[in-house]
Amino acid sequence: MRTISIQKHSKPFELECLDIAPDKSISHRCAIFSLLSNETSTIKNFLLGEDTLSSLSIAEQLGAEVTRDGSDITITPPKRLTEPDNILDCGNAGTGMRLYAGLLSGIEGSFILTGDRYLRSRPMNRVSIPLRAIGAKIDGREEGNLAPLAIRGAKLSSFRYQSPIDSAQVKSALILAGVQADKKSYYRENLLSRDHTERMLRGMGANINTNSDGWIEIEPISTPLKPLDITVPADPSSGFFFAVATAITPNSKTVIRDVTLNPTRIEAYKVLKEMGATINFIEKENIYEPIGDIEIIYNGKLSAVTVENNIAWLIDELPALSIAMAVAEGKSIVKNAKELRVKESDRITTVLEGLNRCGVETIEHKDGYEIVGGELSSATINSYGDHRIAMSFAIAGVLCSMKIEDIECIDTSFPNFFDILQKITKLG
Ligand code: S3P
Repeated sequence: MRTISIQKHSKPFELECLDIAPDKSISHRCAIFSLLSNETSTIKNFLLGEDTLSSLSIAEQLGAEVTRDGSDITITPPKRLTEPDNILDCGNAGTGMRLYAGLLSGIEGSFILTGDRYLRSRPMNRVSIPLRAIGAKIDGREEGNLAPLAIRGAKLSSFRYQSPIDSAQVKSALILAGVQADKKSYYRENLLSRDHTERMLRGMGANINTNSDGWIEIEPISTPLKPLDITVPADPSSGFFFAVATAITPNSKTVIRDVTLNPTRIEAYKVLKEMGATINFIEKENIYEPIGDIEIIYNGKLSAVTVENNIAWLIDELPALSIAMAVAEGKSIVKNAKELRVKESDRITTVLEGLNRCGVETIEHKDGYEIVGGELSSATINSYGDHRIAMSFAIAGVLCSMKIEDIECIDTSFPNFFDILQKITKLG
């Protein structure tokens, strides 16, 4: 278990981030969706994190040929996906496991999806129940709720499914099943979750459209899709750690270049703006989705905020946002966020435990929490194997020195995190 110490940095900084990790959600989808084509997909700036490399290895185990030149990769799918001769290891990635569950449910063969001890304790019923209802053969511990998941590909029927949770992973699993079903399928969620799947598959030629009642209409694929040709933009969730560092360090400024500006991904920046930071979005191009720069400028002490809407749009950023809340003026409140309980760790518990260690007063609720803003003090933080907990408290170290235990998990999503962090502070 590796530990790192971050030393307080009291000087202003100016940071131009050209090397924020490539987007994790889009990279997973590149590895998986390329299998729906029969030509070679070209992907530049693929995230070389453990999670997305697991998805890429699984594509290879299913018969794809992958070439790699740094982060530029090509994926040539086989004519027909092959039954692998070993288990498929998704590592720490819920996205990998849930999306592959949807895809493999309709592919002839037998597949075992597994992952690390954290992933093996996360709920999979959210995909296995609706997939089983359309003919998928999925089993696992707790009647298919816990990985390893054993999947035997089957003929899938079309569906009309109103999802009880706003989850892009569930939606994507069902879309991947829907494109293999016998007839047109319909999927609806209460709040649009991140929509990379719809955008990318549409870009590849799939017929996936949202009607005026909010139902996503999914037509089965009759011929292979066009290959992907994409440069993965920077990940706004990874960039957000440095946005928070900037918003809490007097007279600092950061620009994050070439990041996805998809509205379902930048909500946390809007909340940071509501708290008082200056934030500008500069759209430059649109490739599957809007891409551009985000500028963050310190603008005085932050004010407390209540976060209760569009939760799916900032769920991954809540740990880092909680650091901003901890030093804001007043009491911040997070509501409707019970999904935090089933992320890489129970993030309500791990965020609050970390903040309490830093001397911050908090109140825990079933589906959220309250943070009384004030000062942070130095502490030793256990990440519980959760990359976003490790990085959020590392950022807090910019204000008051911090020791973070169990930092290996950061490699799942942001392998060069500390290279950037050491531009603004000292590490030990
Ligand atoms: C993701 C969807 C979200 C998010 C996760 C990545 C995706 O999870 O928290 O980090 O790539 O589809 P849920 O779908 O469970 O909300």
